[in-house]
Amino acid sequence: MSDKYKIVGPLYDIMSSIYSLGAISDCKKTIIDQITPGQTVLFAGAGHGEDAIEACLKGADVTVVELSLTMADQLATQFRNKLANSKVITDAYTVGKMEIIVNDIFDHKVTQYDFVVANFFLNVFDKHMMEKMLAHLTDMVKEDTGTMVVGDFKYPTGNIITRTLQNIYWFLADLFFVIFSGNSCHKLYDYRAYLSDHGFVEQKEYLYSFMGIGYEAIVANRVGPRLNDKE
Ligand SMILES: C[S@@+](CC[C@H](N)C(=O)[O-])C[C@H]1O[C@@H](n2cnc3c(N)ncnc32)[C@H](O)[C@@H]1O
Repeated sequence: MSDKYKIVGPLYDIMSSIYSLGAISDCKKTIIDQITPGQTVLFAGAGHGEDAIEACLKGADVTVVELSLTMADQLATQFRNKLANSKVITDAYTVGKMEIIVNDIFDHKVTQYDFVVANFFLNVFDKHMMEKMLAHLTDMVKEDTGTMVVGDFKYPTGNIITRTLQNIYWFLADLFFVIFSGNSCHKLYDYRAYLSDHGFVEQKEYLYSFMGIGYEAIVANRVGPRLNDKE
């Protein structure tokens, strides 16, 4: 299978950092403070994986499933560099396990995790595939105690000007990845509504935006039955 991120993969984090003035990086790391050593965390399509690396350095057992070899290679290099330069080792801090699987996450065996993280991942798919993917990911969140995390472009809300600007901001980024990575061209998804359908409720709002333009992290726990368990 061809690697859709072969061209933009090596530059992905630099580009997203410039486009968002650092907000994407902050958004991806929303849950790091909530993670405790020994917890299990799945990162879907982690890219360079700065969030996954931080989680591992906090002592979590991290699994990354990443389809692009270019992206997985970047992650592995950054992880090695971080470990080499990190004081946490000398401070006798327990680093968790880091497992990097280069594969389609649909093929990932359903195990249940404390956290399942989909940062800037679901937006690469068309609506039908995104719904299938979200169902697959939510199935891997531990019953009762598990948390699902979706970091992405903020769903447009507010007045018409704010909504229009946010849509333009999204479509410019989307267009770039439609051309260079073959992503889907679509409107922003309302992940809160989809998660609610799967029996999840948001903990609180985490916004990384300026006057409604920007990003959000949805951190949600399962409180009800899954969609396919409903009558
Ligand atoms: C837009 S990038 C986001 C990367 C990273 N999460 C971030 O926020 O920087 C989407 C990533 O998902 C990966 N991906 C796309 N489809 C996938 C699949 N079916 N299984 C695993 N990874 C996938 C791509 O290779 C890419 O690295």
